[in-house]
Amino acid sequence: MTTLAPPIYDPADPALRRNPFPLFARLQDEDPVHWSPALRAWVLTRYEDVRQMMLSDTMSPDRLRPFYAQLTGERRDTLAEVMRYLSLWMVFRDPPEHTRLRRLVGTVFNLKALEGLAGPVAKVVDHLLDRLPTDRPVDWAQQVAMPLPAYVILDMLKIPYAAYPGLKAASDELRAFVGGARADADRYARARSGAERLAGFFREVIAERRAAPGDDFVSRMIAARDEEGRLSEDELVATCMLVLFAGHETTTHLLGNALNALLDHPGQLQRLRDDPALIDSAVEEFLRYDGPSNAIARVVKTEHAIDGRRLQAGDRVFGFANAANRDPRAFADPQGLDIARTPNRHLTFGFGLHFCMGAPLARLEARLCTARLVQRFSRIERLPRPEGEPEWIDALAMRGVSRLPVRLG
Ligand code: HEM
Repeated sequence: MTTLAPPIYDPADPALRRNPFPLFARLQDEDPVHWSPALRAWVLTRYEDVRQMMLSDTMSPDRLRPFYAQLTGERRDTLAEVMRYLSLWMVFRDPPEHTRLRRLVGTVFNLKALEGLAGPVAKVVDHLLDRLPTDRPVDWAQQVAMPLPAYVILDMLKIPYAAYPGLKAASDELRAFVGGARADADRYARARSGAERLAGFFREVIAERRAAPGDDFVSRMIAARDEEGRLSEDELVATCMLVLFAGHETTTHLLGNALNALLDHPGQLQRLRDDPALIDSAVEEFLRYDGPSNAIARVVKTEHAIDGRRLQAGDRVFGFANAANRDPRAFADPQGLDIARTPNRHLTFGFGLHFCMGAPLARLEARLCTARLVQRFSRIERLPRPEGEPEWIDALAMRGVSRLPVRLG
């Protein structure tokens, strides 16, 4: 009899990048509170453990400031300007700072305002789909999934599309620091350059909007106030950076992973064609089945135990939403794609205090884009492999495709 080696989570493994789900299932059964030597962090894979991680006040999302506090010398200097802004991102803060930031930003970023973007989003979707050829292969990831959410955010902030390549390059430099899978040597210097460029850009935009306010989200955030006051200049810059950063790439990967899932399940694609009213539950299922938020990070505030393992103060913890979303303890037939699944309490947008503020917008984009794709094209096929093989990104915090070749007709 052969025995399997103990399951180990190592993000550098390319097979894991393509398909992490068999390992997630083994970890859930054999080592649900797993210590990953590669990550030097705990890996949680069960639904209830990941959900509790996000609810618990023994865990904090504030992992950057303790990390920065122990740096010295050149590294500390290099990261000073990065920390100036990232320490003001609500996603890294605990109450009461989180509460104040979220309340102020929430006056602008609310369901009504985001759902009001349906018209502009539909325009961007049509603009991109109009340009797709039917006589040659299309790379869905590069031609639609990448530009769509970026254009939507730029429209929302009233920033010309021409600024996008520069903003994307700067945002990528920051991402290597915030969500990178491994430490490459110059990532601190690149993060600094990315943060400086983004901050410089948004400082100018904010100055322009102060001088001539409009009906865009930047002007509205400048005007937002509550009984305790307004957002400071640095908080405004930091929040614009956060919205750009949090809002475009995650949605890109939702659009890519959604089509990839449909290509693997032609029966479900046909079901959506036959019953377009399923689009809302289909989007929830794409978010569950292969969502873009792979690992959600926390740091242990006070020592405690989970499933018999002791977590020490200062330990890092990754809750894998993509594992939790396929936990058989929480979902029937978790490995199957069922676009009519209900209920569908996936954890892809997080849970509790930090639940994603952009969820209504991401859902809107995915609904309009997928529904219009299916309406317009009666043939949506993967190219034969190996040419049609999707390319998965190398990131820990996110899961998505950077290349998805398809043929449309
Ligand atoms: C499919 C697309 C998206 C996914 C999967 C996603 C996922 C998430 C997750 C998991 C969190 C919680 C992180 C944590 O608990 O540490 C979060 C927070 C957040 N997201 Fe999203 N997001 C998406 C799209 C967007 C968009 C489009 C925007 C804005 C335009 C946005 C803005 C935010 C903000 C501001 C927060 C911080 C909320 C807080 O800390 O209270 N997200 N998102």
